[in-house]
Amino acid sequence: MRSVFRDFTDNFFEILTYPKEKWEDFWKCYKKSLDFVEIYSQVTKLNDEEIIRKLRETGRRELDKAFWYKQDIIKDLKADIIDNLIKNSKKFQLNRGDFAVYLTAFLGDKPYLYLNSFKGTIIAVDILYLYFNRNNINPREVIEEAIIEFITSTTPNKKRADFWILYDKIKTIITDKNYKDKNEVLQIICELLAERIRYYNWVGFYLVDNTEVDSLILGPFVGEPTEHSKIKFGQGICGQAASTKNTFVVDDVSKEDNYLSCSPKTQSEIVVPIFDKKGKIVGEIDIDSHEKAPFDNDDRNFLEAIAKLLSERFW
Ligand code: SME
Repeated sequence: MRSVFRDFTDNFFEILTYPKEKWEDFWKCYKKSLDFVEIYSQVTKLNDEEIIRKLRETGRRELDKAFWYKQDIIKDLKADIIDNLIKNSKKFQLNRGDFAVYLTAFLGDKPYLYLNSFKGTIIAVDILYLYFNRNNINPREVIEEAIIEFITSTTPNKKRADFWILYDKIKTIITDKNYKDKNEVLQIICELLAERIRYYNWVGFYLVDNTEVDSLILGPFVGEPTEHSKIKFGQGICGQAASTKNTFVVDDVSKEDNYLSCSPKTQSEIVVPIFDKKGKIVGEIDIDSHEKAPFDNDDRNFLEAIAKLLSERFW
């Protein structure tokens, strides 16, 4: 099972290795290394400048002390949290798989925040809050309260739970340097997506053809063979996604004029562009479904996140 508890506090305390006037650089790295930091900014509606100003107000001395507080308690706290989660796994509904508790650090103004994404919800517990309120709160109770509040106020989201596991697996493969061949990785991703997601019935990659201007060629895929092994920019859903550089979601392909049919079974389609590091389109993920309108925002964000990982590794 995926870990339902993780400690990321050391990532935050990297701040202490930066001079105060370089805390902007720290925040950039923090955001880059942990996806959920960006979600924190969105949820709190705080921009980078505001966050850095607040951190500077707290000051290095106080962050130093918070770091030592964390060092003092962390070992026992982690053991205690994990023990409590395991012993009460039913009560905390750990089998839902759509949430995890992360020990993090932000600004210390709230005990915890719910950070939602296509992967589910991260219950981000703020170690700075625990430090500021160390004399009158019990960290274990804070975490219990956060979980209970989450599971009683939301219904289990199986799709997000599946996306969480699948995304982590795909990320491991894409970042594994033992896989040297790009097409091999793309083929594995097709197989995983087609096998694990019920309504992903045809999964493939179209790649920008370097020998012909504004043209896509079919790359690795899983599903029925298609006659559309070459597509011009602007033609069909794939070509439109390439020329506009946008994700296309088509709930009902029978209502589309500019659509290239591959199979009469296909009812809907999603196409997600892949960019190189300069923002130039290099390919796309194309998925057909035999269901009508199965793709929602979580599918879009899930596939865009995979496209980003591929871009970081291969383009
Ligand atoms: N339907 C696509 C063509 C590719 S097939 O789905 C595999 C389109 O309209 O671009």
